[in-house]
Amino acid sequence: MAFTLKVIPLLNISIVLLLSNPIVVVARHGQWSNEKQVSFQNTEDLVTNLPGQPNVDFRHYAGYVTVNENSERALFYWFYEAWTLPEEKPLVLWLNGGPGCSSVGYGATQEIGPFIVSTDGKGLQLNPYSWNREANMLFLESPVGVGFSYSNTTSDYDNLGDDLTANDAYAFLHNWFLKFPSYKDKTFYIAGESYAGKYVPELAGLIQDKNKDPLLFINLKGILLGNPETSDAEDWRGLIDYAWSHAVVSDETHKTVRDSCDFNSNNTWSNDDCSQAVDEVLRQYKEIDIYSLYTSVCISNSAYASENKAMEVVFKKSTSNMMPRIMGGYDPCLDDYAKSYYNKPEVQKALHVGDGRQLKQWSICNMDVFNGWTQSKVSVLPIYNKLIDAQLRIWVYSGDTDGRVPVLSTRYSLSSLGLPITRAWRPWYHQKQVAGWLQEYEGLTFATFRGAGHAVPIFKPSESLAFFTSFLLGESPPSQR
Ligand SMILES: *[C@@H]1O[C@H](CO)[C@@H](O)[C@H](O)[C@H]1NC(C)=O
Ligand SMILES: *[C@@H]1O[C@H](CO)[C@@H](O)[C@H](O)[C@H]1NC(C)=O
Repeated sequence: MAFTLKVIPLLNISIVLLLSNPIVVVARHGQWSNEKQVSFQNTEDLVTNLPGQPNVDFRHYAGYVTVNENSERALFYWFYEAWTLPEEKPLVLWLNGGPGCSSVGYGATQEIGPFIVSTDGKGLQLNPYSWNREANMLFLESPVGVGFSYSNTTSDYDNLGDDLTANDAYAFLHNWFLKFPSYKDKTFYIAGESYAGKYVPELAGLIQDKNKDPLLFINLKGILLGNPETSDAEDWRGLIDYAWSHAVVSDETHKTVRDSCDFNSNNTWSNDDCSQAVDEVLRQYKEIDIYSLYTSVCISNSAYASENKAMEVVFKKSTSNMMPRIMGGYDPCLDDYAKSYYNKPEVQKALHVGDGRQLKQWSICNMDVFNGWTQSKVSVLPIYNKLIDAQLRIWVYSGDTDGRVPVLSTRYSLSSLGLPITRAWRPWYHQKQVAGWLQEYEGLTFATFRGAGHAVPIFKPSESLAFFTSFLLGESPPSQR
């Protein structure tokens, strides 16, 4: 499986969604105030018997948080307290993208969580570079339909989009703080990668708005974004230029795209020259791993191979108002291990997904969510400006061998913000080697990871943990060997 393509309508239905969305219901005053608060330990969600789990000294919790009582929507989370001194460390929410992909399957068990699913799908291995060495790490499967998260109102699945995702994640946070009151006033950050490049600023912007009400205050201090989808036009231009500059497509194909594609228009694909040339780019990328240009593709022969094949769809030629979308993800072989692990009855029971008798079908990415996505912000750059004004810490990093949201896309997006440069482009170091390059702007820090693909921590775990530590401290990573 290489990747999946899909067409997303860029209709202006966000306002409709917002109005029909019962965020107002969940945002009533007092609902999240600490009236229910007692100093209890949240023992009911404590994970105690996770099959194959290495022994550790920190506690971790998993379970559901209801985000909408009328529609009966519940989001699944997995929370790892920091390895040491959790009470002194900040809280970080991690989100993966897709849309439709699981933060548990990717973030927690392949990238930055303490337990990595082992290759036989039976047990877990300790990740020495887990980010919970530095912070209390909260992984959320978002929105409903992703991983174990669900809605009892089936029509909810027809309305999934950026706004619903942000509103439900916001409701989740408040209800989660009711379960974990000691985290309510903690320094809080949101991090994520890929399509979470949209989710993270959207949620941060919502928190910023709601924080005007002291009862709803959340102590958000910053956001951290990896290979983030940011602005569709810039992202597309970067994808094309990167494919050309990394010898994936010919000069001619590149020139045709440059001459005929208007990525700022909402009917980009109605131009046949453009459409065919972009098809050619995607055709070449199907031959390799778009998420990591210089590693081998996984030739899967597992039980899930046929399903993966079915996922290897289609760049649907669209008429207008449509944007092809490419799924975020990385190693389909690794995905299989995660799938086999999370579909075990004893695992689901240990994670409080159910009683272990009635299984929930878990997959790393839900294609129905991906295919049915109804609303996506064309650009979150206006939200960046708002967050910069609010003086949040914003760090953006980019693995420089990713072709999906390549470093060029991110540079085009950031340069369009026109921020003054405060410290010039320079290398940053880890263990005496150049880990990547760094540029600091007024209000934003940008860094590359040399030789890392789309999901940076998989490729550069030690560098990533060091970078994360710098982010939390608000100190630039080392600029000397
Ligand atoms: C969804 O329905 C099931 C079965 O009736 C129920 O046990 C569960 O609590 C409901 N979920 C929510 C979030 O209300
Ligand atoms: C998008 O399309 C609609 C109708 O086709 C048009 O009125 C509108 O101006 C377009 N917007 C942009 C940004 O091109």
